[in-house]
Amino acid sequence: MNNKKTKSPWIINENDFDQGNVRKYESILCQGNGYMGVRAVTEETYPRNTGQIRIAGTFDRAENAATTELPICADLLTAKIEINGEVLELSRGNFSGYTRSLNLQNGLLERSFRYHTACGTDVGFRFERFVSLYNKHVLGQRIYMRAENKAVKLTISTGIGVKRNGDNHFSETFSEVFENIIQFSETTMQSGIEFTYTKAINISVPDRIEVIRKDDNSEDGPKLIYEVVLPIGCELAVEKIIRIATNRDLENINKTPAEIREQERGFLEAAEFGKFAYYFKESALAWAKVWAVSDVRIDSENTFDQLALRFAVYHLTIMAPVHDPRMNIGAKGLSGKGYHGHTFWDTEIYMLPYFIHTAPNSARSLLEYRYHCLGAARQKAKQYGYRGAMYPWEAAWIDDVEACPDLKFAEFEHHITACVSYGVYYYYEMTKDIEFMLRYGCEIIFYTAIFWCSRLEFNEQKQRYEITDVIGPDEFTHHANNNAFTNYLAHLNIRLAIRWHDILRTEHPHINDIFSQRFDFMTEYPIWVECAEKLYLPSPLACGILPQDDNYMSFKEIDLTPYRSGYRKLRKDYPYPSYSELKVSKQADVMVLFILLEDEFAKDVKSQSFYYYEPFCVHESSLSLCAYSILSADVGQDADAYALYERACRIDLGEKMDSSNDGIHAASLGGIWQCSVFGFLGIRLLRDGLRIAPRLPLAWNEVSAKMWYLGQLLEFTANHRMLTVEIIAGSNPLSIKTPCGVKTVDKKMILDYKNAGTDL
Ligand code: BGC
Repeated sequence: MNNKKTKSPWIINENDFDQGNVRKYESILCQGNGYMGVRAVTEETYPRNTGQIRIAGTFDRAENAATTELPICADLLTAKIEINGEVLELSRGNFSGYTRSLNLQNGLLERSFRYHTACGTDVGFRFERFVSLYNKHVLGQRIYMRAENKAVKLTISTGIGVKRNGDNHFSETFSEVFENIIQFSETTMQSGIEFTYTKAINISVPDRIEVIRKDDNSEDGPKLIYEVVLPIGCELAVEKIIRIATNRDLENINKTPAEIREQERGFLEAAEFGKFAYYFKESALAWAKVWAVSDVRIDSENTFDQLALRFAVYHLTIMAPVHDPRMNIGAKGLSGKGYHGHTFWDTEIYMLPYFIHTAPNSARSLLEYRYHCLGAARQKAKQYGYRGAMYPWEAAWIDDVEACPDLKFAEFEHHITACVSYGVYYYYEMTKDIEFMLRYGCEIIFYTAIFWCSRLEFNEQKQRYEITDVIGPDEFTHHANNNAFTNYLAHLNIRLAIRWHDILRTEHPHINDIFSQRFDFMTEYPIWVECAEKLYLPSPLACGILPQDDNYMSFKEIDLTPYRSGYRKLRKDYPYPSYSELKVSKQADVMVLFILLEDEFAKDVKSQSFYYYEPFCVHESSLSLCAYSILSADVGQDADAYALYERACRIDLGEKMDSSNDGIHAASLGGIWQCSVFGFLGIRLLRDGLRIAPRLPLAWNEVSAKMWYLGQLLEFTANHRMLTVEIIAGSNPLSIKTPCGVKTVDKKMILDYKNAGTDL
């Protein structure tokens, strides 16, 4: 997968079948549409298979579990296939010509091989599967079987299976076979969400071939069983259209379970043979619309770069439940059990920028989720003796006060609250969506600023506010005092409250009156001003390094070679809390701050800090390499930037076959998009607008990306010398900072930026 010359920059391939690798492929070839995530389980089952399908937002807490998770739906995709009585299973080298591929362009997963039975019968198999990006409830599956060298008796048993891996969350509520439609419902035991699966199964065989069909509505779920004797050279196709609905779906909230079931059957009753093609076409068109904006095109010596970037965009698209503002993106998207489907700062800092620039409405939905969580966040603040809203380190359902099962993180990773407000800030600066701010954004900003002001501690001796005893982005450093990332973002959060109160008072007095009933601005505003003035913001040292916190620089140094190579885990040798007093970072910390607040720090500070911190970073979190890549591009270290980018791309697509077992790395994929746009194209938000300063890696000849900015769609194209900025949709002149100075683009601008002589 990491070949320099990938066959097609749209296709992720698995060229041979190895039972040991099924989990990795289940994750990286995962399909979905934000509503459901469907791991690429094979139709036949293997011991290492893990759960297939998860539905966004359907959190449930299993008995004795420490936290909630997204339960695994009933088995909708496996099929037991017997060939002359021999069960299809690829474990004994009894197949040839195996290939499986995921087409990122249209979302189709295909697999084919020729199966050789013990008694010399060959059957050709071809499988196809899609999850509709157009209709969030629908997925389709097609299985072709061909008698290659002899007539063959095939028995295919397919339906809805109740057995699954993982904790059991469900109790069964309904199971029925209606002609070629089978239906099954089950309800989560703690959260009471009813899932209804409806499956239309059709079989097509050449004329005059008899199909014997049996129904089986047994304990392990409803099934249809087909028996066919297929003459040599003939092919049969089994086609399934599956619908999933729950009573958590916004459109089903007020319906009874029986109404939902009837509605779902009604949708499928018309699903005669051929519907696969129809639904797939709809979905492929929806994909085409995504790529029309989101495709970052790279002309690189290394075609893997293009594939990796498309892989990132593909997964970002299928993981985001932007159809429902009560839901957000999990750290593994919907692609696996890792982090239980919970949401972290990963969303606002790593993924949200992608959505803001390619699908602003989706970004808005992700932020509205944080608004809907305000009640729980206020409760969390209260629980810890603070005021305002303190967001959970791990967020799940909107009412959950905290979903993180580990208190040593949940109680200290306070920066999440400032990250949420940063997300609101960045969204507004890029969209100027004032309606969002008035309805949702301001409230988030005010409540979070109130939290920070109650959280700060006044240091009498130094006459300043400080923030002690936190974990910053670097999760190896516990009990940090004045973590620069946390202090600077908290400061921005408080300043935003001041700014938005000023805006409301002067430009939206009516709304301000409404807010005044909820917020005591007369009391709060002066507190914000005082806290903003006196909050300690660590400054760079004389050598140019910005200290990560008060103590990091004096921690003990150890030889990090075994840990930096990634093959040994530091925590094995230095278990908690001992690793916390070493000069070692799990992940980028100060670097992320530099990216977020571009013009707050001088280039020299970034550069000195980059060289200081990188050797102490073991990049154990997948959030790290992309941030370091962007920073090294910022400080002009193009070769490092590219090497780090390539490593980031290999987190999921590389040679480590267990890296993605529990799901893909969502934040890192957002980070890979950022590397291309913020790093190599050098696009960044400054205090007074947008800047572009391309720094392409040597391997790239050209890169081109589209971005929404202030309601207009822009396209940026750069090679090593020329930069083109074009307004694709919109008619307002755009002012943008470039290496050739601040320029106004009317429609299209072409600059010879390499000869400008300015180093931005
Ligand atoms: C990282 C966090 C991240 C979380 C979820 C952890 O390993 O240290 O920064 O939010 O994973 O991706």
